[in-house]
Amino acid sequence: MTFAGASDRDIRARAINDWRPGTFALRDAWFAVAHLPQVGEAPIRRMIHSQPCYLWRENGEVRAAEFPPSQLSARRAEATAFTGGAGTYPVELAYGFVWIWYGDPRNASIELIPNVPFLPRNRVAPDYLRGSYYYGATHELISENALDLTHINFIHRAAAGFDKSASDDVRVVSTSESITMIREVKQLAVPDFQRRLAAVTADHQDLYQITHIFLRSSSSLLYSRFEPGDASMPLFQGIVPESRGRTLLNYAYSPSDATPIAYSREWPRQAPVVADQDDGILWPQNPRYGEPSGATDRHTRFDAAGVEYRFRMSQLIERQRDGDFSYLPEDRPGNELSGHLGLRGTFSMPDGTPG
Ligand SMILES: [Fe+2]
Repeated sequence: MTFAGASDRDIRARAINDWRPGTFALRDAWFAVAHLPQVGEAPIRRMIHSQPCYLWRENGEVRAAEFPPSQLSARRAEATAFTGGAGTYPVELAYGFVWIWYGDPRNASIELIPNVPFLPRNRVAPDYLRGSYYYGATHELISENALDLTHINFIHRAAAGFDKSASDDVRVVSTSESITMIREVKQLAVPDFQRRLAAVTADHQDLYQITHIFLRSSSSLLYSRFEPGDASMPLFQGIVPESRGRTLLNYAYSPSDATPIAYSREWPRQAPVVADQDDGILWPQNPRYGEPSGATDRHTRFDAAGVEYRFRMSQLIERQRDGDFSYLPEDRPGNELSGHLGLRGTFSMPDGTPG
């Protein structure tokens, strides 16, 4: 697919060598700014690309505005284009999160909320399956890190490291709005956490691993399917790009109904550990992208997903610079993704409260 403006070849060349994370805020996207139970009558504040967003409940309804509720009517004249001059943002509740539209309010549509096929639309995950984390880096570095599988054995060996396998193949599929990395590992020596938490007794497992990133928001769906083994627990990561130096992650796991209790209770405890390890790599890197360095990129064939990510992001940036904020109908984030993810099992969410 080619859009008007610069050619894909030009964009690809620039995407590799002139890529500067944190320099362009993509618009017209929904962000999962808070877990629904975090919002009560007292206002809380979030930021999306340095644009403030206050959240509170009024007569039970979730409201979102550029100003605290006590100042809303007095300061309405200061309201920006992000709220169409009204001061209040388009807000939706879905999958246990509060979603805020960052962009032109006239373009907000619920069909553009990312499809999360493993989370119930009207329920909130129990406490032990969800959480939040603040990274000291811009959101693009977090996406690139998720697309780089080679770091797992170095950074997360204790929690999620893999050892020998017969084969390990990665492919990348992208659209104008998403990038998907699919990894297939055959005859993997069974990881320790699969033995301990999912009671796997086989000598080997096959692994199907998928990372799907919604480009405009950086929100992502992550899933690992092990065969044999009963654990099946996809993860939604709601990314909130607060600024060039800080990104909020709101996440929720959804264990399939067949997932062993030990696994669904213990595995989520690794999430803050893994996020902390990633952040320890990312925050020292972040300031290096502040100014152009003149250094050329030195990617290898293991970085194919990261290179494709930069290309697709650069395409979107180019379009938005030209004033085109539209979505292609076939690439809408709300389109059904369950087949694409290759999910195994049914997902009815234990003890979820109505949301
Ligand atoms: Fe990581």
